This record gives sequence, C-alpha cells and structure tokens, in this order.
Amino acid sequence: MPQMQLLQMALRPRDIVYTPDTIAKFLVDFFRPSGRILEPCKGDGAFLKYLPNAEWCEIAEGKDFFQWHEKVDWCFGNPPYGLFSEWLDHTFTISENAMYLIPLYKVYYDFGRLKKIHQYGGIKSICVLGRGEVAAFPFGQAVAGVHFQKGYRGATQTTIAETRLTKRAADGGNAAPEFANFE
Ligand SMILES: C[S@@+](CC[C@H](N)C(=O)[O-])C[C@H]1O[C@@H](n2cnc3c(N)ncnc32)[C@H](O)[C@@H]1O
Repeated sequence: MPQMQLLQMALRPRDIVYTPDTIAKFLVDFFRPSGRILEPCKGDGAFLKYLPNAEWCEIAEGKDFFQWHEKVDWCFGNPPYGLFSEWLDHTFTISENAMYLIPLYKVYYDFGRLKKIHQYGGIKSICVLGRGEVAAFPFGQAVAGVHFQKGYRGATQTTIAETRLTKRAADGGNAAPEFANFE
C-alpha cells in the first residue's frame, strides 16, 4: 500500500517509514538470508522485491505479524519502531534469524531487551549504514541492519558501510543512497 495512503489511516505515522529500494537491495545482498523467509511488515514491498520467495505480513492488508506463529528461518525487514520491543519478542518465538533495519540505539539502550537478546542467542552482525538520513528516515541517529541469531554465542561483527549520496530530492531530502563500498 502506498506510504501516503497508510499515513492517512489511523496507524502510528512514525511507524510507517518505507525503506528506499537501494537500501533494501544492499541489505539483502549483504546478509543473504536463505530458507523460509518472512517479511513481517512488507509495507510497499521494498524488501520483497529482492526476496521474491519470501512470505509476508502487513497489518494494513489484514495480515498481522503477531498472528503469525509458523516457524521460519529468517524474519527480514524494517519493523515499526514504536512496537519494537514486542516485535522482537514475537520474532524470537518464531525465527532462527532476524535482520531488522533499525536505529542502532534500539538494541542497546534497554537492559531488559539486552537480556532477552542474550536468552535468544546473540547479535551476529551489524551493518551500520550511516545516520537516519541515509535511508531518508526522519531522525539523525545511526541506522543499521542488525542480524540476530538464535543460539549465537560468538563475537558481533560490525561493518561501517561507506555511502555516497547520489540524489537528494528538493522535497525535504528523500535521499537515494548508492553504496560505494564497505569494509
Ligand atoms: C517502518 S514500516 C516498513 C515497511 C517495509 N517493511 C519497508 O521496509 O519499507 C513498518 C510497517 O509495519 C506495518 N505494521 C505495523 N504493525 C504491524 C503488524 N502488527 N503486523 C504487520 N505489519 C505491521 C505498518 O503498516 C508499516 O507498513
């Protein structure tokens, strides 16, 4: 469903922030999910374009992620940040892995959340994309793709993606980043 149409509905406006195509593609290429994949809140389908076999939920289309109880290998997407705590809890009950595009502080600022992540497994990899604006998100904090894995007890690999903004629309900065390289 188009972002503007959703924003006119009664859903939390701050939770309806769609992922730019380039970012979705970059994250799928970077994390390479496999097996049974669920895009738990597809929005306009940015990630699905690069995950053609993935199943999906989207509340605006009558498919509530919290009603999904089948086991999957991956949850992969950009969740509603206002529900992140409950979202992660539910993810951990159904999925072996999850990659969520989130403001990075969402992972670390709450001790209870850190304990839950540790009980589930751990954070295998973090790919920091830059400040929110790199994904045309309306905040300045660092955004990252964060890979949670069930039973993982190893070190967390952190990558700082180097970005080059190639387009910044005059309508308020709908930037479409192109990723030059990363380490
Ligand atoms: C931040 S947007 C991201 C959309 C899409 N994943 C993307 O990356 O462009 C979050 C989406 O979650 C959807 N959503 C909110 N609560 C949901 C729920 N309980 N089940 C499924 N989708 C939900 C919203 O309608 C919105 O489309």
